[in-house]
Amino acid sequence: ETGFVTLDSGYKNTGATKSAITFLDGEKGILNYRGYSIEDLAAKATFLEVAYLLIYGELPTQEQYAEFEDSIRRHTIVNEGVRAIFDNFPVNAHPMATLSSLVSALSAFYPDSYDEKGKDDRHIIRLLAKLPTIASWSYKKAQGHPVNYPKNDLDYCSNFLNMMFSLPVEKYEVDPVVASALNTLLILHADHEQNCSTSTVRLVGSSQANLYSSISAGISALWGPLHGGANQEVIEMLEAIKADGGDVSKYIDMAKNAKTTGFRLFGFGHRVYKNFDPRAKIIKKAADDVLTKLGVNDPVLEIAKGLEEAALNDEYFVARKLYPNVDFYSGIIYRALGIPTNMFTVMFAIGRLPGWIAQWKEMRAMKEPIGRPRQIYTGATLRDFVPMEQR
Ligand code: SDX
Repeated sequence: ETGFVTLDSGYKNTGATKSAITFLDGEKGILNYRGYSIEDLAAKATFLEVAYLLIYGELPTQEQYAEFEDSIRRHTIVNEGVRAIFDNFPVNAHPMATLSSLVSALSAFYPDSYDEKGKDDRHIIRLLAKLPTIASWSYKKAQGHPVNYPKNDLDYCSNFLNMMFSLPVEKYEVDPVVASALNTLLILHADHEQNCSTSTVRLVGSSQANLYSSISAGISALWGPLHGGANQEVIEMLEAIKADGGDVSKYIDMAKNAKTTGFRLFGFGHRVYKNFDPRAKIIKKAADDVLTKLGVNDPVLEIAKGLEEAALNDEYFVARKLYPNVDFYSGIIYRALGIPTNMFTVMFAIGRLPGWIAQWKEMRAMKEPIGRPRQIYTGATLRDFVPMEQR
């Protein structure tokens, strides 16, 4: 019976689909969204322009962009019934638990199924509009502060920052340096072809489940420490190194003996990139720029650079082609923007949302068959039932 399947655990050598959205070249460290390089997009576009590009295939005209931005603004408020669910979460609920639960709850509030002809994009607009609002609630609740409502005179990034950091008691002005850094980070996380969470979104969607349920599943997959959850693990690892005197060699050795220590250098390694992660390069440079502009001196940035330097000169990492990935430096910027560590993966989700949506829409448009892989059975051969009294 094993003759007909090729076992490929983790799909390391399996092409799951054809896609026209994102192009990766792991050897050359190339990442393009719909043919545009991320270097170009991160430097010149807004996150919503990139979201439009990923989902609809072309950069928007001014008119298309105005309509897209306006329709998103009109959906940023979240149903007070969803808020009631949120209010019953524990104060210390992990923001990824809250986000995945409330996004799934949206399918109960908007039961009209996805319009196959792709004319009814309200579900797409609702998700793009509501994720930042829901995300900001977690932070406000953890602070014991009242949640904020979106303000329609602000752009997407400024609106999120205002919901996160403004308080009713004083005026809050969004710092353009902070808004610009957030815009860059969201663009760099926007899509990444068939990674674990995107494959999850496509697989759930392949059964014709609705978009909210598919995205909620993607959020859950992203949460894992081997995937998006790594950006939280990186900062916790860097903090531990700092608390331990800042000597990175001990952690390099622990990682090299992973079999016995079970320790991994979070933020290092990638299934596809085998020379460098182009996003890590941009984020590392942005970390220097943003912290300097904000006058933030974060000792973990130097520790991170020291760790990278030590790893790049160590045979174990070089032999396994392990380099900093997108998660290695991103938390240092998020922290400088005032975002707490347990919200880092939520930031990844907000960035990746347009990519998940674009990939789901493409899968549905291609009328792909339901995903249903096979296996190699290694369990018991046929045997007779034994009544309880004889066991
Ligand atoms: C993301 O897929 C994507 O595109 C994901 C992502 C996206 O945008 O969607 O890029 C986002 O998830 C980035 C990755 C974030 N995860 C981490 O930083 C966690 C630490 N990294 C690893 O767990 C690992 O590198 C993965 C999960 C990223 C990749 O795993 P693979 O491809 O399955 O590689 P592997 O686990 O088989 O490792 C190969 C070897 C092993 O050693 P040997 O068994 O050959 O002796 O390299 C070692 C591993 O032990 N190794 C590490 C290591 N990563 C791999 N050793 C120490 N530290 C590490 N970080």
